[in-house]
Amino acid sequence: MADHSAQSAPRADPHAISDDVFTVPAGVTEVIPILDFGSQYVQLIARRVRDAGVYSVLVGPDVTLEQLKKLNPTGIILSGGPSSVHDENAPQPDPRLFDLGVPVLGICYGMQVATQLLGGNVAGAHEREYGRAQIDIHETHDGLFKGLPDKTSVWMSHGDQIENLGPDFIATATTPTCPYAGVRHKTKPFHGVQFHPEVTHTPHGGDILSNFLFGVCGCHGRWTMADYLDSEGRRIKALVGDDHVVLGLSGGVDSSVVAAMLAKTIGKQLTCIFVDNGLLRKGERALVETTFRDHFDLDLRVIDAEKAFLDDLAGVTDPQQKRTLIGHRFITVFKETSEQIKSEFANKNTQIKYLAQGTLYPDVIESGQGYAGTAANIKLHHNVGGLPEQLGFDLIEPLRNLFKDEVRKLGEVLGLPHAMVWRHPFPGPGLAVRVLGEVHATQLDLVREADEILLEEIVANQLYEKTAQVFAVLLPVKAVGVMGDGRTHEQVIAIRAVESQDFMTADWARIPYDVLATISNRIINEVRGVNRVCYDISSKPPATIEWE
Ligand code: XMP
Repeated sequence: MADHSAQSAPRADPHAISDDVFTVPAGVTEVIPILDFGSQYVQLIARRVRDAGVYSVLVGPDVTLEQLKKLNPTGIILSGGPSSVHDENAPQPDPRLFDLGVPVLGICYGMQVATQLLGGNVAGAHEREYGRAQIDIHETHDGLFKGLPDKTSVWMSHGDQIENLGPDFIATATTPTCPYAGVRHKTKPFHGVQFHPEVTHTPHGGDILSNFLFGVCGCHGRWTMADYLDSEGRRIKALVGDDHVVLGLSGGVDSSVVAAMLAKTIGKQLTCIFVDNGLLRKGERALVETTFRDHFDLDLRVIDAEKAFLDDLAGVTDPQQKRTLIGHRFITVFKETSEQIKSEFANKNTQIKYLAQGTLYPDVIESGQGYAGTAANIKLHHNVGGLPEQLGFDLIEPLRNLFKDEVRKLGEVLGLPHAMVWRHPFPGPGLAVRVLGEVHATQLDLVREADEILLEEIVANQLYEKTAQVFAVLLPVKAVGVMGDGRTHEQVIAIRAVESQDFMTADWARIPYDVLATISNRIINEVRGVNRVCYDISSKPPATIEWE
């Protein structure tokens, strides 16, 4: 998913810094590579491992032995995947991986492919097993299931299963339909489970992964965000040297964390560009200014570009056209500003060499870079089409090894305000997609006021952190009303409040009626020009989160 929280700066030459996945951040001593065989849960496995304090990376199934050795792995995980080991092009790991002397955990397909390579036999499915299953555990004194009850439930999702273990394996757990729900090799450090310990539907899944990491692999789990900050900070400091870095700051979580991190690391060698496009929420610019200029004391350039953006948008009603215009204007403003900064620094004999960007690990994985560092097509702010290939900068991406929740933890370690770290995402084109129809300054003010009231009430009622996104939308229609003795003919505000994990699907939030009543009363009383408030009760799909 792209960075929805930030209006990211344009990206420079993606090949500029070869910072490939096989380079472990400095100071990291324990690494668990996960071979991704295509499981829908693969990122979840990586997060569980990292949550346990052990650094993990996702690599392709065709990772070479040399690449794995470069990571100096403490253990290796083979993920699940949709293939059958009998498929013609079924992905396979390098079998020499089992002779590295490093513990390996195979999950679902990962276990099947490993057993097949090590002398077992996997049978095609009679029927798919999907959902909860009861397992009997045979070894609770040691290994993966140490300290677990003899019986527990697990989450299964598979077609094929092991039919014959071969002479070198021992079954460690069974279910009524799956005789080899858990296995281990007699002499090699291989353990496998047919079920998914990484999902919350496996109640002891966390214990099983911990047993693998700490018991089997001997990890200590000392990887923290403070360590990350320290090591990544040192790497960046060494890389930047005496040069200068530019960052496009949006006020979203990712770019704010990058700004705070760089401010701490390289201080005055950073210049941040914040483009006020006139499409921001109330108080947004002030929050960025007070946080970064006052608190972090960094060189912040706030570019007042409201007029240019609104002139571009005049008369435009099509949301895609709005996005394109906003994206292009952003590039123009950013380019002009960075040229200006470059010329300022030319006199000081300092090179502005780097552009920093808040690319996250899921973006890196999605782009294909996670595997062998080949493709270089990191997903950008998805409104910016036709980006200039070169702005003449090299790229610094301090968050490219992190998941979103880790970025938030890092933001807290850096002392960013809570409200900034836990901010709901805000789309790059801002309020332009929340004023339906033509975008004018007056309409923007109206939606801004309504949005502010809405957020105040959501926060006051402790609903902000229970919801994924909450905002007001101004509809391009007028409705009739009555105020005092007269009839009114005014606009309608729609309220959108959703719960969502990944923003790909979402459900409308069950905001209590009395909170909705207060919100509605306040908006109608306090926002001139609005006489009606509606609550959006559509889920995604089929609706989307934004109205546009
Ligand atoms: P939809 O409306 O597609 O939104 O359900 C999913 C998530 O994406 C955000 N969004 C955008 N973010 N530029 C962005 O940076 C956009 O053009 C854009 N459109 C939607 C939306 O706020 C939600 O978080």
